[in-house]
Amino acid sequence: MNTLITDGSSLSCAASILRGGGLVIFPTETVYGLGASAYDARAAYNVFEAKGRPHDNPLIVHVSEPADAENFAYTNELYYRLADAFMPGPLTLILKKKKIIPYEVTAGGETVGVRCPSHPVAHEFIKLAGVPVAAPSANLSGRPSPTTAAHCIEDMCGRVDAIIDGGECEFGLESTVALITGEDSLKILRPGAVTAEALSCVCASVTTSEGLAPGETPLSPGMKYKHYAPKSPLFLLDGERDDVIEYVKRRISEGEACLFICYDEDAELFGDRAISLGGADDDAAHAHNLFAALRKTDSYGKENALTAIYTYMPKREGGISAAIYNRLIRAADHTVLKV
Ligand code: TXA
Ligand code: MG
Repeated sequence: MNTLITDGSSLSCAASILRGGGLVIFPTETVYGLGASAYDARAAYNVFEAKGRPHDNPLIVHVSEPADAENFAYTNELYYRLADAFMPGPLTLILKKKKIIPYEVTAGGETVGVRCPSHPVAHEFIKLAGVPVAAPSANLSGRPSPTTAAHCIEDMCGRVDAIIDGGECEFGLESTVALITGEDSLKILRPGAVTAEALSCVCASVTTSEGLAPGETPLSPGMKYKHYAPKSPLFLLDGERDDVIEYVKRRISEGEACLFICYDEDAELFGDRAISLGGADDDAAHAHNLFAALRKTDSYGKENALTAIYTYMPKREGGISAAIYNRLIRAADHTVLKV
């Protein structure tokens, strides 16, 4: 059974569903989360089942105040320095867990991710729940993360107890995940809206995790799975913008059933083959619209009717670009075409 909650007064009802062991989808400023009480092993197990998520991929625990992490994790001075600068907001910090968090939440590990969302509905919901909320993104495993309640319904209808509709998520990409590795050092496991540059203003040593060597276990297990995949193959076109446009035009004129995830400035040239991410220079819009664009490609024609989805190879660095690159390269299964 699903209940779709669209008005604030029902939040306390959603909170009591969660406290009682139910699953509740809620909006955050990054993407929608699929929440369960972080103190309830059975509910956490059900989160994995509802998503079809591999059981070795831990859940992030959400709090309404950074200090609430004391109840279930070992904090330190760097945690509070980072919390002062970036919480509430799109940052998850990995700390050593306390006993109260069941291994069903941490996938058997001794660490736990702590995140304090800035979305007012998330804040209120977690506060009313009165327990920390374990929540992955509210998509079926392998699908793009949901940035609207409609996306959540598409994937999770009948699999959860309630969905809280909080409109479109502001950032559109999941939080930055960082592991505290020392008194003044951090390792970024997943790039997000809180950038390495921003973290470096608060922490002396900020490193990023590189690609995995064969056989190596990733520090953030989620990074090893194929993610965000649309149903048709996605290709990143690496070249000058004009060359990319010419390439896609040529493919269309040769009769290829393809779509182009492009920018506002190009969209007119491609008519109904275009899905725009926003203005060419508007990185924030690209992040905001990316997952919705990938989902939209799935609704074109019958399944597998498209032979290709093309988009620009994103920049790798600078602001949110690192996060966009990280998501797109996975969605494309690392398929880059030089044009
Ligand atoms: O923005 C977000 O982070 C969203 C919203 C709902 O908060 N949540 C989210 O959760 O994206 P999920 O489960 O889809 O992604 C969490 C990522 C995964 O890659 C997981 O492996 C990693 O964080 N992670 C969680 N706990 C971890 C831990 N203890 N150690 C290392 N990585 C962890
Ligand atoms: Mg996810």
